[in-house]
Amino acid sequence: MDSLPFSQSCENNKAPILEVLREDFADRRQVLEIASGTGQHACHFAANMPWLTWQPTELADSLPVLRPRCVAYDGDNLLTPTALDVRDDPWPVAVPDALFSANSLHIMAWSAVEILFATLGVNAGNDVILAVYGPFNYDGQYTSDSNARFDAWLGQRDPVSAIRDFERVDELAAAAGFALQGDNALPANNRLLVWRKGI
Ligand SMILES: C[S@@+](CC[C@H](N)C(=O)[O-])C[C@H]1O[C@@H](n2cnc3c(N)ncnc32)[C@H](O)[C@@H]1O
Repeated sequence: MDSLPFSQSCENNKAPILEVLREDFADRRQVLEIASGTGQHACHFAANMPWLTWQPTELADSLPVLRPRCVAYDGDNLLTPTALDVRDDPWPVAVPDALFSANSLHIMAWSAVEILFATLGVNAGNDVILAVYGPFNYDGQYTSDSNARFDAWLGQRDPVSAIRDFERVDELAAAAGFALQGDNALPANNRLLVWRKGI
């Protein structure tokens, strides 16, 4: 297990995220995860919410990072990792009744964030829950000095990356038919935003 791709932040945040998802995904059947990274979230959430079928996805180039942990998963509710770039048209996977993504909106370009929500506006059916974890700004302000430093680091690493404004993301969600149902403060100045479409 030690040789599997590993993210310390995933290890730290998976328990507090699970606490929220357990409630919000209690009546869901299948989750499409966007930008699954090392697969630590996929494996942990699939193992701890056995009523769900979990579909991990990543950019095609990053599937070699995601696959090993998924292959080692001991259970039958984790689907084979699939390539998904949110800019794909059409998406190679159907949109089920729940979606999850962690730490992705501040990595991908804003144009990709717009495409993600526009695609959900078209492809998500009635009664779909979307849960997004990560840092967000509110009223144009960082929520902590550490987020301000993180944003500066992100911008130097790749100019398309940036901590997103909650209000702008919520506008995209609303235009796609998703209403905010929860804004959960999690450790390390991160949020777990939960939207619901329909019902
Ligand atoms: C910081 S990592 C987060 C990985 C994992 N979710 C986590 O919390 O550790 C950001 C991920 O976003 C993915 N990503 C970037 N652009 C993307 C896009 N256009 N579509 C889908 N995934 C994308 C990257 O491949 C990367 O794995």
